[in-house]
Amino acid sequence: MSTRPNIAIFASGNGSNMQAIMDYEHLAGEVVLLVCDQPDAYVLERAKEHNLPSFVCSPKHKANKQAYEQSIIQALQKYEVDVIVLAGYMRLIGPDLLHAYEGNIINIHPSLLPSFKGLQAIEQAVEAGVKVTGVTIHYVDEGMDTGPIIAQEAVEIEVDDTLQDVEEKIHAVEHRLYPLTINKIIQEQ
Ligand code: GAR
Repeated sequence: MSTRPNIAIFASGNGSNMQAIMDYEHLAGEVVLLVCDQPDAYVLERAKEHNLPSFVCSPKHKANKQAYEQSIIQALQKYEVDVIVLAGYMRLIGPDLLHAYEGNIINIHPSLLPSFKGLQAIEQAVEAGVKVTGVTIHYVDEGMDTGPIIAQEAVEIEVDDTLQDVEEKIHAVEHRLYPLTINKIIQEQ
């Protein structure tokens, strides 16, 4: 891998994590592409503001997952992407992308995995009544929110915390921890 690898961010929604990565002044790689599966997602506006090219592709318009992922791989090759950073990308990565970028796909999840996998992890933690939840950054494998853990940070849930309070605390940790962890994995490669 080059000393300053090219990064593609995959996102489906708001894009606050992408924003935090783009705003981080000391990123050890260059963000060259946003891949988005939702044509109306707010993250596309954020990309425009940063003059970041976007590849928008909905699996609905493709024959199957393989065709969908092959079209993404072509875009990644065009931009010479080395590392894929999932930032609120709400789909499982399939075998084609996994093999093309083996060991170079990372994900962030708003819980202390392996607790509270899947959708609405923050709500799951609040509903379960746990006192501690957090953020996990991990390499991606074929499972949902599985794969070797790279970094974790705990977030305490106070008795008076609303769901919104917990979301704010989790996002603050995510926005600080993700750029730092991206740098760590790039520097170790
Ligand atoms: C983040 O909290 C991220 O951890 C979560 O989606 C949110 C995206 O927010 N990801 C998952 O739940 C993955 N299983 P953002 O669009 O504002 O970055």
